[in-house]
Amino acid sequence: MKYPGKYPKTRLRRNRTHDWVRRLVSENSLTSSDLILPVFVCDGRNKKEKIKSMPGVFRYSVDNLEPIINKATNYKIPLIALFPSTPKNKKDPYGSEALNENNLICQALRKIKTNNKIGIMCDVALDPYTSHGHDGIIKNKYVLNDETNDILVKQALLYAEMGCDIIAPSDMMDGRIGLIRKNLDKNNLKNIKILSYATKYASNFYGPFRDAVGSQKLLSGDKKTYQMDNRNSDEALREVFLDIKEGADFVMVKPGMPYLDIIKLINDNFKIPIFSYQVSGEYSLLKNGINKNIINREAISETIMSLKRAGSSAIITYFALELAKELKNNFLK
Ligand code: PBG
Repeated sequence: MKYPGKYPKTRLRRNRTHDWVRRLVSENSLTSSDLILPVFVCDGRNKKEKIKSMPGVFRYSVDNLEPIINKATNYKIPLIALFPSTPKNKKDPYGSEALNENNLICQALRKIKTNNKIGIMCDVALDPYTSHGHDGIIKNKYVLNDETNDILVKQALLYAEMGCDIIAPSDMMDGRIGLIRKNLDKNNLKNIKILSYATKYASNFYGPFRDAVGSQKLLSGDKKTYQMDNRNSDEALREVFLDIKEGADFVMVKPGMPYLDIIKLINDNFKIPIFSYQVSGEYSLLKNGINKNIINREAISETIMSLKRAGSSAIITYFALELAKELKNNFLK
């Protein structure tokens, strides 16, 4: 980089004097096309349930999804992410409900896809369906890799056939991207996209989500034998490298803000779209801070901008609707 000049001739504050000049020189911007909205689906009829640990976020029954989907469409949010809150009596050690073509995700896919053009992504992992809360099947206290992959492939095919646009394996089993790609192609589902949760860390920020899908109380132990160790970043490059080779169309970094260095690292090393996930713990901390007047609302877009600046193409955030609304009304700076 060239030496930027010298005071008093050079004054960097000159380009910050007014809103118009700040807008002219801004290096990044935020639009609703950058946002992905997570939507929780629950059992029952005409339901909109509060989630205790996530103020302002709700679970919707399938028949009650339309209003929130319409809002997302009107605000030009390109993609929603569906997550099921499976009733406890439908959970078992094998996550069998994941393969039920009438499970909550399949019902929601069929319902939304009948009259809506919005993109839909679905997690592929067993944790919303297992009685132990882990992402795969367990033997001798260990989450089995290859046996879990066999189920994940079936789950991916089922969701794709039901109308899912982006299959998002969030389970962190080795080799699942290649297997899912191969089987989608074999079944003439060539344009179904894969978003690999390539670098998903074993994080302490997922608690409220686990509460939302009802796996928090069930979960035995932690997920450190399959999710990444937060001391590592070289390993993130290896994960991404493998997943690109196996056929991923996009890669995810998760959580978001504590892992900005990982987003930047991937962006500097690979030319593949990166989606980052501002996870439930990040959301609830910010939301509680705003509700208690500890920070102001503009902190939200500040965090989203940091994820973009680091190199994200898009961000999954529970703030997607409120941000998109503000963007439409031009409130955001
Ligand atoms: C499921 C899954 C999790 C999240 C998304 N998909 C939880 C976990 O791995 O335990 C977390 C999302 C969030 O916290 O917002 N594998």
